[in-house]
Amino acid sequence: MTNGRRGGGIRIAASVLSADLTRLVEQVQQALDGGADWLHVDVMDGRFVPNITFGENMIAALRRVTDKPLDVHLMVVEPERYVESFADAGASGFTFHPEATVHVQRLLAAVRSHEMRAGLALNPGTPLQLAEEVVVDLDLLLVMTVNPGFGGQTYLPTSDDKIRRAREMLAAHGSRAFLEVDGGITTHTIAAAHAAGADTFVAGNAIFASADPAREVRDLRGRCLVTV
Ligand code: DX5
Ligand code: ZN
Repeated sequence: MTNGRRGGGIRIAASVLSADLTRLVEQVQQALDGGADWLHVDVMDGRFVPNITFGENMIAALRRVTDKPLDVHLMVVEPERYVESFADAGASGFTFHPEATVHVQRLLAAVRSHEMRAGLALNPGTPLQLAEEVVVDLDLLLVMTVNPGFGGQTYLPTSDDKIRRAREMLAAHGSRAFLEVDGGITTHTIAAAHAAGADTFVAGNAIFASADPAREVRDLRGRCLVTV
């Protein structure tokens, strides 16, 4: 089982979207050397978001180079079409957006039945109530801290309040789901997101645009530890 364990500590998920694909294995290794806990794989279809990125082949390739959890984030319409193939390729988590599918609860259950972590991602303009309706089916709640589609964007300042409300909502239901944030996470923004209640942090540009990805991962984690 390659799923991450719930509870305790924080997780840094390095987003390969920002890696130099000509040096993918080397850069992934640098992030893992710095203590990255998960690899985050952004799947975009050019419809749910304007950009087109990776699919099953990238998941399978990463699975051949690491045993670490592969945290797959689907920014695609009809994500239900990919449950089986992504599970077979080695995905550990399958996080989708509720606007992209008709039967959210059914899909969360299908993801779990394929032994992947079931995640729901909320855009900045999407209300938390959508996640609350299915909270018992969630292994992970992803609060987007930018509008999805591209790496290297700026963290939206309204995010801290939404993270705080998401943490309260999960606590009110006794949920042990991970609370993940994604977009614009840097050494300048991570501490506030952590203080607001996030426990899992996606970072792409911060890690892979750095001259020293391993040190960047350590620095990101260090900023959380000082706010414990
Ligand atoms: C954005 C993606 C993110 C992206 C984050 O739509 O979902 O995972 O890789 O990149 P940074 O950390 O550069 O904002
Ligand atoms: Zn993402």
